Amino acid sequence: MNAAPERVEHQMTDKGYVPIYTTAVVEQPWADYTETDHQVWATLFERQRELLVGRASEEFMRSKRAMGMTADRIPKFDDLNRMLRAATGWELIGVQGLLPELDFFDHLANRRFPVTWWIRKPEQLDYLAEPDLFHDLFGHVPLLMNPVFADYMAAYGRGGVKAHAIGPEALVNLTRLYWYTVEFGLIREPEGLRIYGAGILSSKGESIHCLESAAPNRIGFDMERIMQTRYRIDSYQKTYFVIDSYEQLMEATRPDFTPIYARLAGQPSHPAGAVLSGDAVFNRGTGEGWASEGDV
Ligand code: PHE
Ligand code: CO
Repeated sequence: MNAAPERVEHQMTDKGYVPIYTTAVVEQPWADYTETDHQVWATLFERQRELLVGRASEEFMRSKRAMGMTADRIPKFDDLNRMLRAATGWELIGVQGLLPELDFFDHLANRRFPVTWWIRKPEQLDYLAEPDLFHDLFGHVPLLMNPVFADYMAAYGRGGVKAHAIGPEALVNLTRLYWYTVEFGLIREPEGLRIYGAGILSSKGESIHCLESAAPNRIGFDMERIMQTRYRIDSYQKTYFVIDSYEQLMEATRPDFTPIYARLAGQPSHPAGAVLSGDAVFNRGTGEGWASEGDV
């Protein structure tokens, strides 16, 4: 068995009670992965590969292939890094787990994506309360091959450093943006709605739920709306926001957020499942939208 991840403490955050790990960058202990570790990777990889055909963003599928990620072995960060550096200048660094916010932002701003080195146990295939190697690597890394999305992630890191200096409310606004795009985003493609958020891509249940279930709202991307919308950490999302393109995401987030944070300060937030007047609500098959009539 591998060395256990080094947990430092637990900390109460807006995401609940989470473990905080050492911030040190660690070498991926690739030779120490057990057969069970590789099997967990293979099982999850195969399951999502099948499920995500016709569900994941074309760009994600293409990038995953281009990187040469396969089911048979846990990929080596060094191998992926050669591809990533050449494509977009990003690199993966190994970490023990979730990082304090400022450390995380600083890595992103410098095009370093922290990847948890350890993988979940076989009895945790369907749910894990914190990111592991499968979520970080399979969910987040392929889209870093896309130049526009790669720029968005670095800009988010710089924005995080800034929001952190402004204060906790700004940080909450910005974190919601990350949650509803990088983790749980949907994109409208010619064939219909598709997944690009890593929190969905690494989850079997949510990959189906987000597109097929009648329960959640699927609402057109609206930056300030997202910044004011709470989210669920303990269940599937009640609302997904849909972008038209990665360019749209990049352009919408280009302006300086400082005046936006100031305007939103002290305003009440929307419940995770709210539908508001003015929301563009989508259904799956056609990706066609219509204006909603208000709260339902
Ligand atoms: N433009 C944002 C700011 O001024 C930074 C940002 C870019 C945030 C992209 C998120 C995504 O803070
Ligand atoms: Co994640």
